[in-house]
Amino acid sequence: MKKICIITGSTLGGAEYVGDHLADLLEQQRFEIQVENHADLADVRDQNLWLIVTSTHGAGELPDNLKPLFEQIKNEQPDLSDLRYAVVGLGNSDYDTFCFAVDEVERSLDGQSAVKICQSLRIDVNAEPDHEHAAQDWLPNFVNAL
Ligand SMILES: Cc1cc2nc3c(=O)[nH]c(=O)nc-3n(C[C@H](O)[C@H](O)[C@H](O)COP(=O)(O)O)c2cc1C
Repeated sequence: MKKICIITGSTLGGAEYVGDHLADLLEQQRFEIQVENHADLADVRDQNLWLIVTSTHGAGELPDNLKPLFEQIKNEQPDLSDLRYAVVGLGNSDYDTFCFAVDEVERSLDGQSAVKICQSLRIDVNAEPDHEHAAQDWLPNFVNAL
């Protein structure tokens, strides 16, 4: 059974709900799921499949509960060549920095030789009020790439 580590970055809970919904759907498909809402590199380092679900806050920044993981990656520069990952982003297209957290996650992980397995999803909360549904529609892109 494949294990998937879902790592969320969320300030107001929106991305966390999406992460929980994807966890339920993937469990129904018999994947083993670990959800990390305050990820620490030591807790997720041994997992080789990450699904990151993150909103963007501040001026195009990662949410506070995801920043520590990416600061650790920046400082420790781990070899992540065994890691495969995908990203779901929530953002608001009123911001010039729409879904910049997705770009930052990709830049950071690609820089450590991790492999992005499918196109990232960027959910515009302005245009798409049902975030869970948007993520659910995207999910086969991820599952079919496994
Ligand atoms: C203070 C604040 C700053 C935000 N900055 C951005 C931003 O720079 N880029 C973006 O795409 N969305 C931005 N957003 C929109 C959020 O990403 C969006 O509302 C998202 O659904 C929040 O999800 P969360 O509840 O998981 O944090 C911002 C929202 C707030 C309240």
